[in-house]
Amino acid sequence: MVNPMDMDQYEHTAAPLFGPSLQAIPMPGIRKMINMAAGLDDVIHLSIGQPDFPTPEHIVEAHIDALRAGQTGYTLDAGLPELLTALKDYYSERYERQLTEDNILVTTGATEAMYLALTATAAPGRQFLVPDPSFVLYAPLIRMNGGEVKAIPTRAEHGHQLDPQEVIDAIDMRTFAIVLNSPSNPTGTVYPKETVEAIVQEAAYRGIYVFSDEVYDHLILDDMDYPSVIRCTSDLDHVMAVSSFSKTYSMAGLRIGWIISSQGAIKKLRRYHMFTTTVANTPAQWAGVAALTGDRSCVDQMVDEYRRRRDRVVQLVGETPHLTGYWPQGGFYIFPSLPPNTDGQSVALRMLEEIGVCVIPGDAFGDSAPNALRISYSNSMDKIEEAFERMIPWLAKQRF
Ligand SMILES: Cc1ncc(COP(=O)(O)O)c(C=O)c1O
Repeated sequence: MVNPMDMDQYEHTAAPLFGPSLQAIPMPGIRKMINMAAGLDDVIHLSIGQPDFPTPEHIVEAHIDALRAGQTGYTLDAGLPELLTALKDYYSERYERQLTEDNILVTTGATEAMYLALTATAAPGRQFLVPDPSFVLYAPLIRMNGGEVKAIPTRAEHGHQLDPQEVIDAIDMRTFAIVLNSPSNPTGTVYPKETVEAIVQEAAYRGIYVFSDEVYDHLILDDMDYPSVIRCTSDLDHVMAVSSFSKTYSMAGLRIGWIISSQGAIKKLRRYHMFTTTVANTPAQWAGVAALTGDRSCVDQMVDEYRRRRDRVVQLVGETPHLTGYWPQGGFYIFPSLPPNTDGQSVALRMLEEIGVCVIPGDAFGDSAPNALRISYSNSMDKIEEAFERMIPWLAKQRF
């Protein structure tokens, strides 16, 4: 019998329509689980990759006002000037370094930003070091253009922290770039300043680039300053930092992100951006201006609630038989392990079918943790409690 998790919509095509680069794009493991869950009743989702809060009212109002004011044409290719200025002011102050509008390109979410950064640079002979597990975008985008991915495994026992020395030791003659994502999806791990500094400084010294996906840069749940690569580098020549409004302001569907880098890199990427999406959505860029210049207490309130849930989820994971957790400091994920050699995919599938709890198996995020599960706490506390009330007795009955 065919395992539905192995089915792929691209398989079994008699005459391939698509070019070889699309072979690098897998059917994402996340989508498989969500599609299967859609056919079932009474499913609790601990699988969601976007905030569960409503978009703050003043941001929605700004979006609607922009539509009503006729802001429905193209903006400049780099982005709406008012948004570029708001981003420049915001980041210059936050990271204590003077940026200009020419250091920034506004994109259609962090997804387009990562797409531009990785596909503009990946090429045969260029190796990218990527932590494993990692967000699903990076490896396929690198491989699509002939780049090579070298995985740097991280482990639940170490809170999925990257050991900077391990990264530095992995650099070889072919290494072109390092991809970082802190706070991480799927692990919620936040790299401390020492880690980011050591990697960024070694990279600059060796002429290697750092691509840093910082979409969860505001969802920091412990008392620490967020160590962006922008704060840790002496110049922007070797770094591209990517972020967006999606997670911070719960506006993932409005699709506004950006890249911050050297003026030279941004100039080149602006031209590439004209050939991908031309410009980002105009009224949504106005919503972004309102997000940055308006009252930001809405973010604090969301972060407070994520923190409350994180504290409880860590406790619940600790009470769940066979799961090994750790202390995630950011985002809204934890990536606990099942015992070694357990097939996380089959556990996730059976948990969905038998108790209606949807989590994402670890192999959706790389090869290093097939025995892990990604649990998202972007769901209400009541739903989280109910999910664990189902999971704890179910896992207690399993023999691994
Ligand atoms: C690590 C990471 N990067 C990028 C994205 C995409 O963000 P955006 O909505 O800004 O395209 C996500 C969304 O889940 C993510 O988790």
